[in-house]
Amino acid sequence: MTKLSLSKEKIKVVLLEGIHTNAYKQFAEDGYSNIQLVDGTPDDDTLIDMVQDAHIIGIRSRTQLKDDILASCEKLMAVGVFCIGTNQVDLDTCKSRGIPVFNAPFSNTRSVAELVLAEMIMLMRGIPEKNAKAHRGEWQKSAAHSHEVRGKVLGIVGFGHIGSQLSILAEALGMRVLYYDIENKLPLGNSESVHSLEELLARVDVLSLHVPATEQTRYMIGQEQLSLMKSGSYLVNASRGNVVDIDALVAHLREGHLLGAAVDVYPSEPATNQDEFTSALRQFDNVILTPHIGGSTQEAQLNIANEVSDKLIKYSNNGSTSTAVNFPEVSLPELHQDLSRIMHIHINQPGMLEKINHTISSHNINIAAMYLQTSGEVGYVIMDVNCDSSHPIIAQLKDITGTIRVRVIH
Ligand code: NAI
Repeated sequence: MTKLSLSKEKIKVVLLEGIHTNAYKQFAEDGYSNIQLVDGTPDDDTLIDMVQDAHIIGIRSRTQLKDDILASCEKLMAVGVFCIGTNQVDLDTCKSRGIPVFNAPFSNTRSVAELVLAEMIMLMRGIPEKNAKAHRGEWQKSAAHSHEVRGKVLGIVGFGHIGSQLSILAEALGMRVLYYDIENKLPLGNSESVHSLEELLARVDVLSLHVPATEQTRYMIGQEQLSLMKSGSYLVNASRGNVVDIDALVAHLREGHLLGAAVDVYPSEPATNQDEFTSALRQFDNVILTPHIGGSTQEAQLNIANEVSDKLIKYSNNGSTSTAVNFPEVSLPELHQDLSRIMHIHINQPGMLEKINHTISSHNINIAAMYLQTSGEVGYVIMDVNCDSSHPIIAQLKDITGTIRVRVIH
């Protein structure tokens, strides 16, 4: 087993916001014992008290790790964001302090795909409207506009993790899948790629959006695009709030051109569960409105806990930074038992590597393996060498101008 220059018992891990207990379990099973699990989101002063001597911090979406908080965390080595988005963390500050940030972008893929599938079935049977009416005492027993999904055409915009997973599930129900993506994506099963969004819009019975928020996808479904959709078709958006022009959607629902929609994400969403949800879509019985919970399942929480803690432990134990959102990415092999691994994080400027190499060779130390990756203004060099963490070379490497941080495992 590798030993860290700072032992696992001394590495303080603070997991905030009620992160799934599996994260705690993963750290504990790997030998970490200084782990604090905190429920909820503390105010800034309490947060600083909790994390100022932490080496690893785990948060979900509410805790803001901005400049001022990060400035007080001198020992901080890595941050785990146990959700998808990372806006709550000042990624640039972390990067410039040599702190990689890890998240779990795809742990809830299945959860979103399942919800969308269920919504398509509900929409095509007219259930949202019948359900709303039944709650008000109205009895709408009718087969009008009520269809099986079998044999219907599903159009997917964005054939990435969620879009492609949805495609597989929908085909299993007998749907025909067409998709449009700006990247060349291989079809899965019997799905078929179409060449333009316009072509897709005109051919589908239900359209589901699975694109990221980019300049290109901003309001990509507006008045013009909705007009191209078949009369009596449906729209599902569980991607990002700004992908659909809500006013245009409202107009098409009002005219009855679209028979229904399911929306999980909105241009503006309440900040807390106590705030009111306002949307022009609230007026429609035939629209399923969900509070951005496409990916919110217990299974996704478990996957997220496992994925992020695994990445944090890997980084702490062997220096790997694969899939870090703000940092040079390096995937490292296990360290050979006779060697030490020196991880040197520095400002990416000319001559750094030469100075590092010179320091090492001046001690006649052999480098068994060397890995280097840079990302913008930060460079990350990893060297497997035959010396240990008490060797004077470590202090000398720390002294090289431009060094941000040096870690050693052996
Ligand atoms: P992904 O990155 O795996 O796939 C996105 C796909 O969209 C890629 O294949 C990409 O090439 C394609 N794409 C990008 N720009 C495009 C354009 N202009 N036109 C057509 N295709 C385009 O992402 P993933 O994981 O499938 O997520 C999709 C969306 O779902 C994201 O916006 C994500 O934020 C959202 N999401 C929503 C959740 C919820 O709770 N409702 C939970 C998880 C993700």
